[in-house]
Amino acid sequence: MSDFTDFLIERGIISNLMKRYGINVRDNEVNDFIHKIVENLSEIDSKEIYHKEKGDDHSFELDIMAKLYEKDVPHSQRKIMGEFFTPIQIVDYILKSVGYIDQQDIENRKLIDLSCGSGSFLIRAVKVLLGKLRKQATPKGNSELTPEQAQMIISKIIVNISGIDISPVACILCQVNLYFSLFEFFKIIVKENKDYLIPEFNIINKDTLQYNFTNKYNYVVGNPPYLFIRAIPQKHRKIIEKLPLKTNKGQYDYYQLFIEIGIKILEEGGALGYIIPDSLLVLSNRKIIRIHIYHLTRIKEICYLGLGFKEPVVSNIILVLQKEPREKERLNNKILIKQSLKNDRSESYLKQHDIGKWDYNFLINLTQRDINILEQLNSGFPKLFDIMKDSRFRILISRGVELGKEGEIIYCEVCGKNLPLPKGNLECPECGSFLNSNSVDKIVVDGISKESENAYVPFVYSLNRYVIRNYKYIKLGVEGINYKNHEIYKSKIVIRQLSQENMICAAYDENAFTSQSIYNLKIIQTPVLEFNQYYLLGLLNSHLLSYYLIKSFSSYKRLFPRILIEKLRSLPVKIPESNEEKGLANKIIDLVKKISISCKKDDNLYIKLQNSLDSLIFDLYNISEEQRLYISNFIKVGKKSN
Ligand SMILES: C[S@@+](CC[C@H](N)C(=O)[O-])C[C@H]1O[C@@H](n2cnc3c(N)ncnc32)[C@H](O)[C@@H]1O
Repeated sequence: MSDFTDFLIERGIISNLMKRYGINVRDNEVNDFIHKIVENLSEIDSKEIYHKEKGDDHSFELDIMAKLYEKDVPHSQRKIMGEFFTPIQIVDYILKSVGYIDQQDIENRKLIDLSCGSGSFLIRAVKVLLGKLRKQATPKGNSELTPEQAQMIISKIIVNISGIDISPVACILCQVNLYFSLFEFFKIIVKENKDYLIPEFNIINKDTLQYNFTNKYNYVVGNPPYLFIRAIPQKHRKIIEKLPLKTNKGQYDYYQLFIEIGIKILEEGGALGYIIPDSLLVLSNRKIIRIHIYHLTRIKEICYLGLGFKEPVVSNIILVLQKEPREKERLNNKILIKQSLKNDRSESYLKQHDIGKWDYNFLINLTQRDINILEQLNSGFPKLFDIMKDSRFRILISRGVELGKEGEIIYCEVCGKNLPLPKGNLECPECGSFLNSNSVDKIVVDGISKESENAYVPFVYSLNRYVIRNYKYIKLGVEGINYKNHEIYKSKIVIRQLSQENMICAAYDENAFTSQSIYNLKIIQTPVLEFNQYYLLGLLNSHLLSYYLIKSFSSYKRLFPRILIEKLRSLPVKIPESNEEKGLANKIIDLVKKISISCKKDDNLYIKLQNSLDSLIFDLYNISEEQRLYISNFIKVGKKSN
């Protein structure tokens, strides 16, 4: 057994910690688990750790607890609490970005991790602080610390470094991790004073969302849990929604609540650094937290990491904020945008003020030219939702039948009705009962007999731009299935949720039903004759609107976003008004009809017609020659990389 394990056992540290965190020492399972992890420590040669660390081998992770914990606790169990650990280079990057560095007055500043787990962030922060305190205690760096100096250093850490975690086991592991980091200091003290009472660190076992904070902090860092509202049990959701927070509304995610609380407990001028999902950037459900951030902080940095961690399989960003009450300072702020942890040429800046103009979307990958084009489109043309609100028009948008495109349904014997086959577990979403896989049925079929003609209607199975590729049939009248208003399926535009070659994929269809992953868009009433379904189909399939959608909703990924209804609604739509514009619209309508016929047969002709169509649409939206070239190149590159 190593010295460190002896130290923990002799001093009864583990059993004291178990008592402190309310774990029954007789709870064999937890007890064994903690002891197993601590015993494992003896296998780790601490010299090796420090050696590697000095060599700055970032692939080595100092947070031994995290490693052991991940090894021992099954993935499914950790997922429930969002327990995934942060690679050391990310932790160090965040600490540096918030200014937790030697040069700052960190010995007099407070740092907290609101979801500290086994302490990845805290032990690295302790290391930075230790470095500074040690230098202050022994400026020449050669003399040993006195026991008084070692005690002073430990008390500084107790006062300045705090963590919270809902899991008592994580809290114990975090404490042990801190003891491990400070072992050499304890040794100095204990050598002189055998009766020295080993203190506990400020690691609080509470639900951060419900914790009553009495302190303010200079730094809030961490990797908060990512838990979408649907994964939160109903009972817990009710508690969360009653909390005195601003962003616990709608379809929230845990991590946004941790951002709000983090900002709340910061001192003015204090900094927050988190690694969080990139959904923060533009997802409409996260708008509420983006507004909050925009109005309370200077956004110092957004570093786009993308996919890269083993778990969870989420595309991430690092977000660094500074609490800033002065509006002018916030608006004049320039946000550093990075595409990797390294300092390289991909760095750029974004004005915080621009985010306000983009309806609080954090569009982090735009060039000045993109910004100008988007501004021109956003300020010069109504959005589809503006037109839908105008009483002279009647326009409907709806998803198709609430069912996958294969039409698979299952019967719930408890509820006595059919429902769409759920993804994952075979459980009824309404009553929670177990579903029998023998009762899976399919109501979408390839063909139908004469006798069943009345029971079935055509169904759009797949589509390409301008054309329906494949029809099937869907059975009507199956109880429990939400078919939507049948009217929506007559003479309408259909739009795939997924792009085709990195572009919007829309076609015209007369009367077939669609699945939930295809939208139906229909103009029922319009005062402008030329503003009809063919004209709108031309706009949707144009380079310009695909460019707009990508830049407005997923510029940070450079890939086409999944089209959600609210994105469709926010497209800028030109209503032809003058005679000249109506003339252009009529040409667009003719071209759309021609393309719809020819694109099945002749590739070259299709390209030629599409180019003419794009050119007319650029005219209608007043896009300059230089901008056209830029947009078309962007679309071309996107098609190739698709
Ligand atoms: C993604 S892990 C991060 C762990 C650690 N910060 C790291 O980077 O290695 C998230 C942590 O949040 C904790 N957690 C989940 N819900 C919490 C809550 N409501 N309050 C406090 N901690 C919570 C989990 O127990 C888990 O340790």
